[in-house]
Amino acid sequence: MPVQWAGLPPPLLVDVRRDTGVPLRAQLEGGLRDAIRAGRLPAGERLPSSRDLARQLGLSRGLVQECYGQLQAEGYLTGVVGSGTRVAAGAATLAPPPPPTPTPTRPSPRIDFASGVPDLTAFPREDWAWAVREACRTVAVADLDYGDPRGDPRLREVLAGYAGRVRAAVTDRDRVLVCSGFAQGSTLVLRTLARAGYRRIALEDPGNGDPARSASSRAAQRVGGELQHVPVDGHGVDVDALAASGAQVVVVTPAHQSPTGVVLTAERRHALVAWARETDGFIVEDDYDSEFRYDRDPVGVLQGLAPERVFTVGTVSKSLAPTIRVGWVLVPPAFAAALAEEKLLADRGTPGLDQRALALLVESGRFDRHLRRMRARYARRRTAVVEALARHAPAVRLTGLAAGFHAVAHLPDGVDEPRVVAEAARREVGLYGMSGFRADGATTPPQLVLGFGNLGDRAVAEGIATVADLLTP
Ligand SMILES: Cc1ncc(COP(=O)(O)O)c(C=O)c1O
Repeated sequence: MPVQWAGLPPPLLVDVRRDTGVPLRAQLEGGLRDAIRAGRLPAGERLPSSRDLARQLGLSRGLVQECYGQLQAEGYLTGVVGSGTRVAAGAATLAPPPPPTPTPTRPSPRIDFASGVPDLTAFPREDWAWAVREACRTVAVADLDYGDPRGDPRLREVLAGYAGRVRAAVTDRDRVLVCSGFAQGSTLVLRTLARAGYRRIALEDPGNGDPARSASSRAAQRVGGELQHVPVDGHGVDVDALAASGAQVVVVTPAHQSPTGVVLTAERRHALVAWARETDGFIVEDDYDSEFRYDRDPVGVLQGLAPERVFTVGTVSKSLAPTIRVGWVLVPPAFAAALAEEKLLADRGTPGLDQRALALLVESGRFDRHLRRMRARYARRRTAVVEALARHAPAVRLTGLAAGFHAVAHLPDGVDEPRVVAEAARREVGLYGMSGFRADGATTPPQLVLGFGNLGDRAVAEGIATVADLLTP
């Protein structure tokens, strides 16, 4: 019997529910198809106007129109001007539409030279489990409440000591703010500076990943900053270009530039600090992988030269694992209160038990022990990269190896960087061109950013052997 839509309230043939997690449009389309196939909506039956159906079901009219359009395209409905939308002849016998074809995803490479990832297999599980348990066992009842948004006082004390001892920072507990990694720390700092009127922000070029996607550039845009890029050469960030850019704030990676691996020279360090002092500028120092330094004397943080001009952001993402999400900011005293307010508004503080666990890990000496082990491990892996390239692709020059776990492979002139990356992907080897880190995306000179942190020594050798023929013209 034909279904009557006229009159109030019309029968609802389609049950659209909001508590199932299934998109409303999919529910409506599926419900109408089922009703047609089951004969509840026979051929020729007129459907309510999109406006009426939208009203009945509490949906937007546009959604109903899209749905009708889709079912017309599939042959279930016909739309005739003047007579509305009707069930098409023979619609009940239509086969169900094929399941949507999944968007092709690139297979993840078998051997991946992605940079920025530490050796996740070496995460000190036992030590972290001990520290979390200890933190839980010993935490005072009162410390389970909301705490100081700047972070657990004990961790701030430990971090201030660590930064002074290992990184030659000039700081104390009251100038340390605990945050959720560099991602949050840099955002809070840029927001604090923007509120104080410092909105012209310079980023290094090449910089931390695709400029459209990097955390720093997204954060700078979010705080309403005006973004500029300042070139990096063999001595680090070009301070003359920075001065000429008119920027008020610069985000830099002085200890091991990301991604070129250049260490900011002493001359440039002093020039950068002088720029900040002379122009009332501020430096955001990303001290992300300085724990792993191999063949140069340790370089302290810039903050040690100008604690009133430099915000240093540290993280355990490289030293432990990114999932821990704990970092810290060494804050110029004049901004300590404003930054604490931003942190309070952002999340009321980083999870307290994790903070205590980190404090215990450092105090117990387990953190230093882990770092010593990792330094030896990365040093071995770095040697594996150097040896594999020397053996299989001697024309490739490597730089940026003084610290961390990535380097830059300079390919001979004439090698087509995007082609190398694409062909390597076909061989299931993940390679990453410098073009992805340059503000203008230039593919010359051809270079690769080779990460070796999260790869076994054998995988390094095998990966390089697999792509070696691509690396020479
Ligand atoms: C240059 C640079 N800085 C900092 C970080 C760490 O960020 P987060 O502490 O938010 O994990 C990374 C991670 O890949 C990075 O590449």
